[in-house]
Amino acid sequence: MKFSVAVASVIAILAPTSMAQSVISIHGSGTTNPSKCYWHIMDQMQIQAKLPIRMTYRGVGSSTGQAEFIGDDTGISTNMFASGDLPISAEDFASFESGSILHLPVLLGAISFFHSVPTGGEKLNLSACLLAKILNRKVTDWTDAAVIDENPNLLNVLRNPSPITVARRVLGSSSTASITEYLHKVCPEEWPEELVGRTIEWPVDTVPCEGSGGMTDCITSMPGTIGYIDSGHGHAEGLQEIELLNAANNYISSLEASERGGILAAAENADIPTSLDADFSSVNFMNQGGTNTWPIVAMTYVYVKKDLTFIQDPAAQTLVKAFLTALYTDEYITQCEEEFGFVRVDGELREKALAEIESLTVSAGAPEWTFEFETITNEGQGDYVISNKRESYSEAEQDMMLADIAVLKAEIDLLHSEMDIVASGTGHTHDEDGNIVAIGSAYNNAMNKDSQLQAALVLSSISITLWILTIIALLVRCVTGSHTNTNLAMSETAKVDTPPETA
Ligand SMILES: *[C@@H]1O[C@H](CO)[C@@H](O)[C@H](O)[C@H]1NC(C)=O
Repeated sequence: MKFSVAVASVIAILAPTSMAQSVISIHGSGTTNPSKCYWHIMDQMQIQAKLPIRMTYRGVGSSTGQAEFIGDDTGISTNMFASGDLPISAEDFASFESGSILHLPVLLGAISFFHSVPTGGEKLNLSACLLAKILNRKVTDWTDAAVIDENPNLLNVLRNPSPITVARRVLGSSSTASITEYLHKVCPEEWPEELVGRTIEWPVDTVPCEGSGGMTDCITSMPGTIGYIDSGHGHAEGLQEIELLNAANNYISSLEASERGGILAAAENADIPTSLDADFSSVNFMNQGGTNTWPIVAMTYVYVKKDLTFIQDPAAQTLVKAFLTALYTDEYITQCEEEFGFVRVDGELREKALAEIESLTVSAGAPEWTFEFETITNEGQGDYVISNKRESYSEAEQDMMLADIAVLKAEIDLLHSEMDIVASGTGHTHDEDGNIVAIGSAYNNAMNKDSQLQAALVLSSISITLWILTIIALLVRCVTGSHTNTNLAMSETAKVDTPPETA
């Protein structure tokens, strides 16, 4: 034992530092919600780094992330940072030395209700208590007086009876946690404490739906259904959203709210401690004030220790800082908004977070990672510069393919809508279950069979091209992916890589 330690240190001394280049790695864990966003940023940074770096994030849920952050039996964190959709509880927070950990508010997510009630374009207005009575099955028909009270015009478009179908998630889900927390906060008389959580006891005549995809199917396949899903997802699927009564007494959709800054407003109006190292356990973003504020908002936090020297490799300590900085940097976080439907934390809260990240404690002499977005001649070639001028061919090629696929998808949608127009006189009809009939829809039996056939042929040839492109994209990804992993694995075991060029 002693001998091998001695040998190792002799080797360490003998090996010129310029020759040894081990992989610098950082690892986090926590909520699955933003995992795609984190993976995307990590992928980018790995490609853009000159030195071999490895960044991972395990999507294991907020509570596991928090448990790993709190640490194993010896009290040592098994992750270097964690992420969660909930603040750390008062009890767990008290187990840390006072002022030693940070809650960094990173991303806001809106959750909303979507429906397939044929309202003929009328907005479906719901207050929290009406929503609660619909979900707890006290109100089971869209023509119930309680519904009509907020939606007088429904009587013009709906037949009586028009049964309500309630779609809800089947397994533990953060969207269930958010909507139940919201309903309890705003309408405790209809939504008691015991109905709050990731999984709850639902009335038997609600419809279980699995995952966001399953929820979308549930809503679209059964007219008259109401369900909940994160807002970005719901709109990406083209679902119809409700109008929810907010704390300022305005009916608003999350789409309208987000266009008017009403998601970020929830964070600005919430009672957040002045210092990010304080106890956040009572911070709540639901039903905040403000004309355009969306009432069902959840915050994704990153939890990090202020002293990073528990991480052995000094370059990894500062790489954690670089990753956290990226979470507040345009070039990285924009994609999380555009592709994954989050809203970034901005303004004063962002400034506060960046200041805290800047002052995290690292070992003396730890290298500082910087970013190159605009070419910095010579300096950009530094060992610790993460440069967006470094790309990988497979990434670039994937981007081109995604762009092609987007064009093809748009063409298919267009063809579909053309086929719809040909197939029906005035639009859609939803009378399969005989209960709900949209006004003014009628089948046009004299549809033009020729043009339908033509559209179908074009459509199928495009679909085949789309599939081929997708398969090629997947293959390219597989091949380049395993290639990268092998390289990393090799350099990690050998702890030796090509020596950096000398001046
Ligand atoms: C919902 O309320 C708006 C006014 O806020 C009203 O224009 C609309 O007709 C209402 N929806 C229904 C179905 O009555």
